[in-house]
Amino acid sequence: MNKITIAIDGFSSTGKSTLAKQLAEKLGYVYVDTGAMYRAVTLYAMQNGFIVNGDINKVGLTKHLDKIQLKFVFNPKLGFAEMFLNDENVERQIRTLEVSKNVSQIAEIKEVRTQLVSLQQDMGKSKGVVMDGRDIGTVVFPDAELKIFMTASPEKRAVRRYKELLDKGEDVVYDDILENVQKRDYIDSHRKNSPLKKAEGAIEFDNSDMGLVQQFERIYEHALRVIEKH
Ligand code: DC
Repeated sequence: MNKITIAIDGFSSTGKSTLAKQLAEKLGYVYVDTGAMYRAVTLYAMQNGFIVNGDINKVGLTKHLDKIQLKFVFNPKLGFAEMFLNDENVERQIRTLEVSKNVSQIAEIKEVRTQLVSLQQDMGKSKGVVMDGRDIGTVVFPDAELKIFMTASPEKRAVRRYKELLDKGEDVVYDDILENVQKRDYIDSHRKNSPLKKAEGAIEFDNSDMGLVQQFERIYEHALRVIEKH
């Protein structure tokens, strides 16, 4: 059976990565979390003085982009690939609220996007990939055989994110998370470069009131039908 490319886009905390990971595992495909790449560049910017009190030195960061090496390394214990920034495992650090607060502004920078999109296209060039992000079906792989656009209400997404961060031991306040979710939605869908929007031919999937198992089953069955046709 031929392998296809699966592009999953949508708002933050819609469960894209959970779904993408499960799909990849079941199909024997590679999973690429492109949000992790934008987060790693953000962490680099924070660690190297290119973000101070929320102000970004875009020119400085752009000049240093060639010093940023990103790599996914599969962790068999976790069952997914972790993000390495210049050979350091940053999987935990890139998920903090601090990084979430700055990442949308970093993801707006044209030079950052050009560099990451080219890396992503390289990672998916042999197909057999499930990639999630904001511009996968519109920019990275506009010819993907299966495109999914995920949505859910901001409140439902904030609750999910809040629980996730609490589970990781972060000291967070629900209202801050909701504000961050809404702010990122706005920036992600209104930015000049590759704004988040439903790609042509994408199936829209609102999972506000759907459990993970039910959601996975529906999308997996659909994916199998698409794969059979190719
Ligand atoms: O999926 P996530 O929440 O980890 O993504 C983090 C941020 O990165 C999000 O605010 C938007 C940005 N992003 C993007 O602009 N393009 C992508 N392909 C993936 C993420």
